[in-house]
Amino acid sequence: MTADEMKKQAAYAALEHIDTDGVVGVGTGSTVNHFIDALATIKGKIEGAVSSSIVSTKRLEDHGIKVFDLNEVSKVAVYVDGADESDDNLHLIKGGGGALTREKIIAAAADKFVCIADASKLVGVLGKFPLPVEVVPMSRSYVAREIVKMGGQPVYRENFITDNSNVIIDVHGWDITEAIKLEKELNNIVGVVTNGLFAMRPADVLLLGSEEGTKTVYAK
Ligand code: A5P
Repeated sequence: MTADEMKKQAAYAALEHIDTDGVVGVGTGSTVNHFIDALATIKGKIEGAVSSSIVSTKRLEDHGIKVFDLNEVSKVAVYVDGADESDDNLHLIKGGGGALTREKIIAAAADKFVCIADASKLVGVLGKFPLPVEVVPMSRSYVAREIVKMGGQPVYRENFITDNSNVIIDVHGWDITEAIKLEKELNNIVGVVTNGLFAMRPADVLLLGSEEGTKTVYAK
């Protein structure tokens, strides 16, 4: 079974968590692309979606799913998104695709966060995947120097602009065992818009595609 087949399996399993008649929060990435295709099979039963990126919005609309602005919506019952890494607290690293800010906003607004991933994404310690940090462009060098003081190795993501017209610094070299503390510290650096740690608002459930079928993981 390929990683993509595992992603697809987890994506279709997420349909069981969708409340019909409501607005579904939709993340970004290759796993979510499968979820959008799955959502299209029940599009007559949902009111529509709120989307975390321009690319997901296009895929949703191509399927004929109505996309609402988050400000138009009073309730997002469920948010479905992938992850680059998860630990067993369901603290996540996200933002490999650069959509972390809008993803974090919808995750915060949602009642329930269902994370979908292939089995390789569950790790013992977060940080092997470089941690994305979205920053206002003029703050890039300052933020990078502050991150070096915190022991990280910042790498500017070349030729990439976010949907919010900002840039990304990917931080290497951290073993992240205190994810909530690090998430807050990074947020306190002036110029940081968002960081890719989803620990203050972790996933509520993780659906992992695997050779043995979809595994449902709750925070330990
Ligand atoms: C997008 O910015 C990310 O947060 C993705 O959710 C994450 O990178 C997972 O991507 P894949 O589903 O492509 O592995």
